Amino acid sequence: MLYSLIRPLLFLQDTEASHRLTLSMLDRAGCLLPERTLTHRPVTVMGITFPNRVGLAAGLDKNGAHVVGLGRLGFGFLEVGTVTPVAQAGNPQPRLFRLPAHQAIINRMGFNNDGVDALVANVSASRSRYAGVLGINIGKNKDTPNDKAVDDYLLALRKVYPHADYITANISSPNTVGLRELQSADAIKSLLERLKNAQAELATNFGYKPIAIKIAPDLSDDALVELADIFKQFEIDGIIATNTTIDKSAVAGSRYSSEEGGLSGVPVRAQSTHVITVLANALGGEIPIIGVGGISSGADALEKLRAGASLVQLYSGLIYRGPSLVNEVVKACAQV
Ligand SMILES: Cc1cc2nc3c(=O)[nH]c(=O)nc-3n(C[C@H](O)[C@H](O)[C@H](O)COP(=O)(O)O)c2cc1C
Repeated sequence: MLYSLIRPLLFLQDTEASHRLTLSMLDRAGCLLPERTLTHRPVTVMGITFPNRVGLAAGLDKNGAHVVGLGRLGFGFLEVGTVTPVAQAGNPQPRLFRLPAHQAIINRMGFNNDGVDALVANVSASRSRYAGVLGINIGKNKDTPNDKAVDDYLLALRKVYPHADYITANISSPNTVGLRELQSADAIKSLLERLKNAQAELATNFGYKPIAIKIAPDLSDDALVELADIFKQFEIDGIIATNTTIDKSAVAGSRYSSEEGGLSGVPVRAQSTHVITVLANALGGEIPIIGVGGISSGADALEKLRAGASLVQLYSGLIYRGPSLVNEVVKACAQV
């Protein structure tokens, strides 16, 4: 209700400015509100017990700087990042576009973030006021060539590992040149092998923390089946499906539709669900799937769960529907 009143004012502003304003309002409100989790049926996935099935998707809180405020919205888990080893500015602005007629967003942020050390400091500082499940999403710096990409993931993994409940390797952003090539069979095998070795080594000191891989919605069914086999072979703990799409055909003709970047929100919903269906069939229940892409109602979340996801995440829907979406989706997911 409140969000529907302030949304028109927020939407009048520059997109990134309204984004910053919303997060700072949330920080202030978050300090006043008690810690709250909408506990409707806890569920254990990847060995972690989640108070509910609904998480915040990566990219809204890239530096883990708003965990306390976001944690007051009722999510069952938060995923912060993508964070890279070294701070980087991201792409020049404008780089974030709203397409309200489609309840969609196009972004080419390009992993703007303060670097992994800053994220770790932020997350550590908020741990006493956020006791919920925290995922940390890692990526590679823009200037790191692809043949050295694995080193970036390992460096970031080692730094975030002690502070995360699970870690996501993001190999599917369309806004870092060459990143999605890491989804090819050969590249992903060497990435997964080294991530799993590092995980085994880190587990001796910090306990076992699951590693999830976040994939794009633009992979063919054949490529998905091949990837599913590789994920099983390397015993990956979870798959996040999906990131934004590079396919803009659903918004063709709209203002901003030809902007470079990844499309999210309602137009990516069906494709993300299709990816989940294909993966779930190929995985045969061996690896859990976190479903994300275009969830803007409880029914959309149920669609993801019925397709084979165990958990869901939201991003664009929050921008259009506001925080009440969290409650709606948590309630819907409790039916399963
Ligand atoms: C502005 C923006 C920035 C994003 N940044 C990231 C990111 O840094 N890392 C990541 O893994 N996904 C990122 N995403 C993708 C979302 O986490 C999510 O996978 C995608 O938007 C589909 O979900 P949605 O339709 O609910 O937004 C970003 C999405 C948006 C809209």
